[in-house]
Amino acid sequence: MRDSCAVILAAGDGKRMKSRQPKVLCELLFKPMLFWVTDAVKDAGIDKICTVVSDDGRVAQRLPEDAARAVQEERLGTGHAVSCAAGYIEEAAENVLVLCGDAPLISSELIKESGRLHQETGAAVTVIAALTEDPSGYGRVVCEGEEVKRITEHKDADEKTREIHLINTGAYWFRRGFLLSALKELSREGNAAGEYYLTDTVEEAVRRGLKVSCYTAENWRETLGANSRGELAELSETARDMVISRLRAKGVDIPVKDGVMISPDAEIGCDTQILPGCIIKGKTVIGEGCVIGPNTLIEDCRIGSGCTVNSSQMYSSETGDNVRIGPFSQLRPGCIVGSDVKIGDFVELKASKVGDNTSLAHLTYLGDTDIGPGCNVGCGVVTANYDGTNKYRTKIGKDVFIGCNTNLIAPVEVEDGAYIAAGSTVKNNVPEHSLSIPETKQRNVAGWALKRGLYGGRKK
Ligand code: UD1
Ligand code: CA
Repeated sequence: MRDSCAVILAAGDGKRMKSRQPKVLCELLFKPMLFWVTDAVKDAGIDKICTVVSDDGRVAQRLPEDAARAVQEERLGTGHAVSCAAGYIEEAAENVLVLCGDAPLISSELIKESGRLHQETGAAVTVIAALTEDPSGYGRVVCEGEEVKRITEHKDADEKTREIHLINTGAYWFRRGFLLSALKELSREGNAAGEYYLTDTVEEAVRRGLKVSCYTAENWRETLGANSRGELAELSETARDMVISRLRAKGVDIPVKDGVMISPDAEIGCDTQILPGCIIKGKTVIGEGCVIGPNTLIEDCRIGSGCTVNSSQMYSSETGDNVRIGPFSQLRPGCIVGSDVKIGDFVELKASKVGDNTSLAHLTYLGDTDIGPGCNVGCGVVTANYDGTNKYRTKIGKDVFIGCNTNLIAPVEVEDGAYIAAGSTVKNNVPEHSLSIPETKQRNVAGWALKRGLYGGRKK
């Protein structure tokens, strides 16, 4: 958008949400409401963004370091909040988009289309409105014929005004000069909340004989705000449907939506099937032709094509293609897994690298380990990576066979092609192509249990 900037209001504390955190940080599909708004603005091609935050720093500290912000020290209303960003607006651009941080589903198309109308009509202010089924709680856009006259808050509206279904979405385009001068005219008197209402700028424009435009959103659902947990849950359901529909349109197979929650920032390839109970968070990327789920949680991961992840959890990790994970396994942060790897049931990996074609079929823990390609890790293999004070790495080369129930006491290295007998406790490095066997020989003490009258030897 040419010569445009955005101001996002995010200083309210949102008492109605009953959260210990500020309302705009309450999450929709695991992403704070505020960042939905910020991303929509960026997608609309507006890169000058100023966020109005409160002085307690809780929202400010979640913003990228270089993001512009204006601090509102007292919560005196939406008009007051915008005036806190006056210095920014003055420098930034001629067209000022104002958005609420608690109305997260606004789309970049709506921002662009309303901006186009604003510029074409040369309006002092363009209100982004919507026709909703249930307008209660919202400001009403009061018109005479085609002309917008004012916005009246629900609290301040009489019964007749409350019958209006055209609501103020809390998003507007302003001309900079008009906005800055109108903000100075606002008064806290004469409204139920005793606040400086940004919405009063509309009446001010009418008073000055300036053009006020109204852009009515096609899809009212994307304009809704959330002031309470109930409203947040409703938005969450809308967002969930939007994301699932978008993915289906790209060829992702989501046969049923039961328990499926997918982040708006996830990318999933065609023919990948998402089964019930899957939660896919953050900036996860999944390739084509995978089967994910049922009952799987994946956060900020990159997964190749042709993989299966069944009833398992993965965090901040990567895999190549044709990897099979689960059921009931966990990849904790920092794992890099190659292609054609099998990670079977009850396997936990942490900060480990696994080479191509390696198999960890069952009941294994590898922490801080680099294991090469073509290895076979038997059932019950454990790396002891922590001595109670420090953590150490385990290095396993390529084509290594590790027998069942082996403990690898880090730091230790098993070189290429080595074999480790079942039940070993490996404390020293194993040279390449050699066999490591447990150093203690098994001794059987005959009749030992009988003499003590234990278990099978107990007298009846
Ligand atoms: C506002 C609008 C209402 C509109 C609705 C749409 C006003 C007076 N009313 O009402 O017409 O229908 O949004 O959702 O503008 N904020 C601050 N500082 C403040 C007060 C609020 O930064 O002093 C921020 C909040 O964090 C929030 C946004 O502004 O993100 C809107 O504030 P909120 O109190 O939720 O306004 P509504 O009552 O929903
Ligand atoms: Ca609100």
